[in-house]
Amino acid sequence: MPEVIPLRIADHKHLKMKQLQNIYKVIANEQLCPRFYRLAFDAPQLAREAQPGQFVHIRTSLGLQPFFRRPFSIYRAQKYVEIFYEPVGQGTQLLASKIKGDDLDVLGPLGTPFTLPSKEIKQVVMVAGGIGIAPFLALSDVLKKKKFELVLLYGGRTKNHVYPMKEFKANGVKVFVATDDGSVGFKGRVSGLFSKVRLDPQTTRVYTCGPNPMMAAVQKFCIENNLPGEAACEEIMACGLGACLGCSIPTKSGYKTVCYDGPCFDIKEVMFH
Ligand SMILES: Cc1cc2nc3c(=O)[nH]c(=O)nc-3n(C[C@H](O)[C@H](O)[C@H](O)COP(=O)(O)OP(=O)(O)OC[C@H]3O[C@@H](n4cnc5c(N)ncnc54)[C@H](O)[C@@H]3O)c2cc1C
Ligand code: FES
Repeated sequence: MPEVIPLRIADHKHLKMKQLQNIYKVIANEQLCPRFYRLAFDAPQLAREAQPGQFVHIRTSLGLQPFFRRPFSIYRAQKYVEIFYEPVGQGTQLLASKIKGDDLDVLGPLGTPFTLPSKEIKQVVMVAGGIGIAPFLALSDVLKKKKFELVLLYGGRTKNHVYPMKEFKANGVKVFVATDDGSVGFKGRVSGLFSKVRLDPQTTRVYTCGPNPMMAAVQKFCIENNLPGEAACEEIMACGLGACLGCSIPTKSGYKTVCYDGPCFDIKEVMFH
């Protein structure tokens, strides 16, 4: 018998007394490395409200193709809101063609953000694979003010998936890179960098985002070492508002929607598939 998840659009936490959808102006859209782009748009209120781990749902075309919006993590929310993306299909390729001054139809901020570390935590470890690095600059922007020791373990397929990460380094983040082919950093999976983590469950908190097999490896590492953590999950989305249930994923407490209950979940709860 499938579990029934109540329709929550009527009491959606983000819909109360504020306008969620707006048209914003593109400020910049640049290619940072062979695989990844960064797009900035002018959205002062969204920038004020956005929390690390939340996402925006963008209409990439004025026509019917692609029909659904596309979700993107909020990469940075300062003077402008920024997303960091990889063109992989029609929607993201249309996004890559946007230029300064273009209109961008955006819904957001959406989703449950990361839980910020409690005051006992001293070391924050972010483990990212590929485009999964996207939510972590905003997280480091917030955490650098609280003086945590920040570590980023980043895994990319090749040097084409690695960019200089100057903003992370400027935030005081210690960056360690692994690539599958060894073209930059450690040769192998990002799990080969777990030795960089100081294993103290009382003072360390882990955050991860990336392909499911990588997040499953991070989950195993957290369980074996009793480390608390959260995973920012991805699933193909339609409404982005918790209404259609199309983005549901299995967790230890039943099916949950990535767009409303997530994308950020307790890492021990998610059943990676
Ligand atoms: C909460 C959330 C945050 C995301 N943040 C980012 C981000 O910051 N930067 C970024 O580049 N991408 C991000 N994504 C993934 C991004 O939404 C997809 O890459 C995008 O929707 C692809 O659209 P498209 O039309 O270009 O490709 P499509 O033609 O729709 O698909 C191309 C390929 O990508 C796969 N795909 C499509 N959507 C997803 C998805 N959601 N997860 C996994 N695979 C998918 C398809 O199965 C297909 O193989 C995020 C997804 C979610 C759910
Ligand atoms: S419930 Fe519709 S996309 Fe998540």
